[in-house]
Amino acid sequence: MMQKIFVHESPLTFHLQNDELSYIISILPGGLPGQLYCGKKLHDRDSFDHLRGKAAPFNAALTVNNDYFSEETERLEYPSYGSSDYRRPAVSLLQENGSRLAVFTYESHEIIRGKPRLESLPAVYTENPEEASTLILGLRDAVTGVRCELFYTIFSEGGVITRSVRFRNEGNQTLYLEKAMSLCLDLPDDDFEWISLDGAWGRERTPQINRLTTGFQGIESIRGNSSHQNNPFLALKRVHTNENVGEVFGFSLIYSGNFLAQVQVDQNSFSRVLMGINPTWFEWELKPGDSFQTPEAVMVYSDQGLNGMSRCFHRLYRTRLVRGPWRDKPRPILINNWEATEFDISEELILQIASKAKECGIEMFVLDDGWFGARRSDRAGLGDWFPAAEILPNGISGLAEKVTSLGMMFGLWIEPEMVNPDSDLYREHPDWILRIPDRRASLFRNQCVLDFSRPEVVDHIYEMLAKILRESKISYIKWDMNRSITECWSAAFPPHRQGEIFHRYILGVYSLYERLISEFPEILFESCASGGGRFDPGMLYYAPQTWTSDDTDAYERLKIQYGTSFVYPIVSMGSHVSAVPNFQSGRSVSLKMRAETAFFGTFGYELDLNKLSADEQKEVVGYTAFMKEHRQLIQFGDFYRLASPFDGNETGWMVVSEDRSEAVVGWYHALHQVNARGRYLKLAGLKPDACYDLQIPVIQPEENGVVYQTKEIGSFFGDELMNAGVISHPDQSAIESFIHPAGDFSSEIFLLKERGKD
Ligand code: DGJ
Repeated sequence: MMQKIFVHESPLTFHLQNDELSYIISILPGGLPGQLYCGKKLHDRDSFDHLRGKAAPFNAALTVNNDYFSEETERLEYPSYGSSDYRRPAVSLLQENGSRLAVFTYESHEIIRGKPRLESLPAVYTENPEEASTLILGLRDAVTGVRCELFYTIFSEGGVITRSVRFRNEGNQTLYLEKAMSLCLDLPDDDFEWISLDGAWGRERTPQINRLTTGFQGIESIRGNSSHQNNPFLALKRVHTNENVGEVFGFSLIYSGNFLAQVQVDQNSFSRVLMGINPTWFEWELKPGDSFQTPEAVMVYSDQGLNGMSRCFHRLYRTRLVRGPWRDKPRPILINNWEATEFDISEELILQIASKAKECGIEMFVLDDGWFGARRSDRAGLGDWFPAAEILPNGISGLAEKVTSLGMMFGLWIEPEMVNPDSDLYREHPDWILRIPDRRASLFRNQCVLDFSRPEVVDHIYEMLAKILRESKISYIKWDMNRSITECWSAAFPPHRQGEIFHRYILGVYSLYERLISEFPEILFESCASGGGRFDPGMLYYAPQTWTSDDTDAYERLKIQYGTSFVYPIVSMGSHVSAVPNFQSGRSVSLKMRAETAFFGTFGYELDLNKLSADEQKEVVGYTAFMKEHRQLIQFGDFYRLASPFDGNETGWMVVSEDRSEAVVGWYHALHQVNARGRYLKLAGLKPDACYDLQIPVIQPEENGVVYQTKEIGSFFGDELMNAGVISHPDQSAIESFIHPAGDFSSEIFLLKERGKD
């Protein structure tokens, strides 16, 4: 695969092309950059001017070069409001005279190999310059002198284009950026459905699919974090596009703070997609000489349905967003004590849980909340990052020593951005929280948000945390964040710069992450925000995995993991087996289904194994052994959604190896249907002509201590598996299924291996 950027003169046109897509920009009369085409790959040609189409005659019109020209009937790459485009703008620049119009017209262009890094912001990267090419389109507003550079990077693999914008005030007045979107894309029709991933705490990332209609539709966060409620992702799909066939455009913002993702359908049935920092409560001062860099937006085009789009995001984010030594490594199977103990912990209890976990083959113990300061409940101690002597007489270093001497890795929970008013940190620095003078500082879970827009606050937290990490054998950190921002205001900035604080806050979070991962590159970070309140690509740049949701009920998790998989790779999803009845739902789901759901993620446990029966403990040994054997494939293969939990009783998904010789399939049935014919699940991603051996894992305690074996079912061609499907419970006859009904919430795993491949 190769990517190319063709440049044609008169009119000046840029054609970004790879095997999957073409993206064509042309400089319009008057100098505005216009969008001519975005979609499946086209042949290159000298001019694409005909793709501009004809303007409808009755529109706000300007005269440019003695010719009729209407901005509102053009498709524009970076529009502003105030001339003749009445759609929502990408940029708004407040000037000394009170005007907000800036007309950014073409000044220069540059094409570079590879992709430049973004200053202080997460972004996808290249490992060698052959992987991508970048077009930098330099624009200028002649009146203010502001230069605006549009960055477009096309990758050789996948239908991917990344976008970001950099502003530099090269004029002599102080300006305020009130809106600076990362991406604007004007598409020439509205024949789409739009998809967003919406939800709430415990119900994160439910796909919503709605018909696009005239007017606005979109999602946002104004909570300071990307949020449980909406995710910085939006897709436009053709009405008939399904999981495997049809066109879809996916947009994902690499950002963890307030965002806006919006589609506006106008009078011409054009669809304008805007994505970037939410302009609500955003205003950035640009003094002469100052620059501002927007976050990066990623656009994926696929004509292979939603699965095609997701695989493209997965591969890009897994290999060129996540960094560090854990990027390509199967993730350790961990046990976390939170749901087992909450705050009721002691060194003795922790070691009991860890020892039993070790017996079951688990590789890491993670100590959750409650180990520090006066943190015996959620009412006190947050911010005081030193071990509580009454709980940990040997400190974190002593406990880590004991856990590691069991032959396990040791991990630790932190919540660096927060403080309880009842803490030494708050008593010493009451002005270090975000709050508006003379107004209440609202508490949420009895805690306030530290003002991470202030470098001295970030420095202080860094020193406290780095001390623990330097002193102890810590292999993993779970970085939690348990409330959104309210009363956003910083004592360190003057009134006219308070519009910068939401963004500065998130830059502070990124800077703390960057310092910690630079000093401790071997530590695996997992981000968390009351479950999945900050599951976004920005976090993945620092923390290779994210706690997907506080809802660990396996049936609920099918939905949450299914929705999350629209954008985020399987290896990034924290997924644990927890106790029943479930902590959040009260539902009891078999250990088998809990494990078989958690397999499709990082896989771990969130319970006290000492409380399981001896047989269940043996089962845990079997599931752990299964995951160790298959995690390389599950976590790094190509993922396909097969049946949606939102459509009915069945959920299905599978992971296929890159060479398509191996696969693992998960199939889940919510309610048991009595006297029902065996159902079929159609697989995907296999070689139609290859013959695959089908096995099912059998995990049950045996006399001889063997807990994990496989059972041969038969061999089948790929075309049969994909077009006719596999039948449920293929190892049981109809009468056996009747005599031993699977019951509600059952699951099946299939293993496929191409004949003759080892
Ligand atoms: C919220 C997290 O999502 C949980 O897993 C747990 O770490 C608690 N916070 C601890 O307070």
